[in-house]
Amino acid sequence: MKQIEHSQLQGNILRGYRMDHVRHMFLQVTKPAAAREFLGVAANGGNADVPAIMVDQPHHTKWPEGKKPRFCFNIGVTFTGLKALGVADRDLATFPTEFRDGMAARATKLGDFGESAPQNWSAPFDQPDLIHVIASIYANDPVALDEVDAQVRRAFDVKGQRDGYALPEDKVYFGYRDSISQPKFTHVKGEVEPVDPYGTVLLGEPTRLEGLDFRIPSPTVLGHHGTFNAFRVLRQHVTAFEDYLDKAATELMAHPDSALLLPMDAQFGIGIEPLDRHGMLREVVAAQMCGRWRNGVPYGSSPDGMPDTEGLSLTEFDYTRQSRCPAGSHLRRTNPRGAPIVQRIANYTRRLVRRGMSYGPITNAGDSEPEVGLLGNFIGASLGAQFEAVMCDWLNLGLQDPDITGANDPLIGANTPETSWFDLTLSNGGTIRLRGFPRFVSTRGGVYAFLPSMPAIRYLAGLKP
Ligand code: HEM
Repeated sequence: MKQIEHSQLQGNILRGYRMDHVRHMFLQVTKPAAAREFLGVAANGGNADVPAIMVDQPHHTKWPEGKKPRFCFNIGVTFTGLKALGVADRDLATFPTEFRDGMAARATKLGDFGESAPQNWSAPFDQPDLIHVIASIYANDPVALDEVDAQVRRAFDVKGQRDGYALPEDKVYFGYRDSISQPKFTHVKGEVEPVDPYGTVLLGEPTRLEGLDFRIPSPTVLGHHGTFNAFRVLRQHVTAFEDYLDKAATELMAHPDSALLLPMDAQFGIGIEPLDRHGMLREVVAAQMCGRWRNGVPYGSSPDGMPDTEGLSLTEFDYTRQSRCPAGSHLRRTNPRGAPIVQRIANYTRRLVRRGMSYGPITNAGDSEPEVGLLGNFIGASLGAQFEAVMCDWLNLGLQDPDITGANDPLIGANTPETSWFDLTLSNGGTIRLRGFPRFVSTRGGVYAFLPSMPAIRYLAGLKP
């Protein structure tokens, strides 16, 4: 297999940095010459005034000079940003439609309506055309964020920022362990087989789509080995989620099929605290909605109780029609693995690289519950064929399996109490239908960005006005 030139890729695509803090800065290019100069220096190792862009490392190296740096710095450029930096109209026209339209214009496909509609997005996402560049700074020491931030401000007009942090034990709000499953690329962590082809995420590399490759925008130096990022600010309604688990567990206590959902002699707890039956049923509902117990154990492999993660593989599993992991769960909707789905050819083609961190609490005027959520980056070679296809057909319409068609993802879908439903699986192959749950995740903003390769950043830096 052809080797990838790691030093020519930005470093946050094929692997995560696992740093504790992130700052995403949303920048307008008001002085194109200064912006281009900044990008040129950043792509060529940086200097005392400009941070260096972190490049990818081969799996055996992991970090340049063998130790974790003080910070990592990366950039993404929006469609209006490419324009502002001086990309020619004929080249701009070769970028995919959804990227040219921008995230706000794709709201209907993404389930961004009602409270989540772009007209309700917080600044700077209420003026998406003014966001030209996203600069992301990752660091363990938050002081480093401010240092790099001050350098970025000299070259760009800052329209807004979002700070995120890693919750302990890789948890996200709602209490689940996250960041377990990612596409596996050869030679990144030393995987042998099976692996996802690089074309899942890098333009110009073969994909799983049997001879169908995503078009590389021109000129080649700009498009080749680039990728796209859907950046989303996702508010999580924690109280509504926990309240719903209470309500569902109370109903299930009295349900005649309760023992088929969870054996009557099941016993488990959280940490060393044992749970009563109501508490255990709450966890079953949370686990079936996600597809994993909140400690990360895949639900399908342990449906009779939440085992300890010790000695268990959290990533090696698959689904069948008989699986106890519900077809409607978040996990099966976003990555059906080898399950028999309607669009069978699509099984592994919509894999998304996920780089997310939590944010909040933010106190909003007139809102009794402080805002918390996830700053999510969903990265892939095609926004339309991957991110939007997952969001629209699989997360929100359930087109992959007739048993769930018409129901949205229970955890993050665009639900309303009037229309929502979710089928819990039982040990005899039957189901119990839950209804009446609200939307637990709403969109507060977002933007589509192109993540250019290192030669592409140098190309942008060298454009003539
Ligand atoms: C606040 C919003 C979200 C929350 C709380 C959330 C939570 C989770 C959790 C707990 C997992 C299991 C951990 C793992 O397998 O790594 C997971 C997996 C995943 N999520 Fe989400 N998620 C959110 C939004 C999204 C969105 C918007 C997408 C896609 C468009 C998405 C795509 C995925 C994928 C692809 C996986 C891995 C599935 C697999 O490979 O088995 N998530 N998510």
